[in-house]
Amino acid sequence: MSLTVNGGRRELRLDSRVTLLDALRDELGLVGTKKGCDQGACGACTVLVDGKRVLACLTLAAQSEGRAVTTIEGLSEDGHRHPFQDAFLRHDAFQCGYCTPGQIMSAVALLREGRAGSDDEIREFMSGNICRCGAYPNIVAAIREVAGQGAG
Ligand code: FES
Ligand code: FES
Repeated sequence: MSLTVNGGRRELRLDSRVTLLDALRDELGLVGTKKGCDQGACGACTVLVDGKRVLACLTLAAQSEGRAVTTIEGLSEDGHRHPFQDAFLRHDAFQCGYCTPGQIMSAVALLREGRAGSDDEIREFMSGNICRCGAYPNIVAAIREVAGQGAG
């Protein structure tokens, strides 16, 4: 099958049961996307498929064929970090950093969904992304800042 990941076409020979998460990490070496629960409960594996957030652990690689997959590795442009990556750094929005790629991919989608109107709305629509370190206040602050700039 062929997958388009971060703008590049990749040819893969995969069992039809392989998840998008395992294809990204194990076959393509894109280990920025994290495996947390592997059951759809934590959001660590969030990536964008055709611009919409999906849980890569619950998505088969085959379901993504012909679609544009974006991972945390694909967010920077021309060597510049994405505004969310900068904002997370500025606001100290991570501790161990394990949940951070999923948080950032969700944040990118949340902005596109028009769901960053208030702190409460940000919290509600980021609630599928679990941070075991409890970095939530700084994550909300980082998202609020980027949303306020109209960037993302
Ligand atoms: S690893 Fe996919 S939601 Fe937890
Ligand atoms: S920063 Fe450690 S799990 Fe979120």
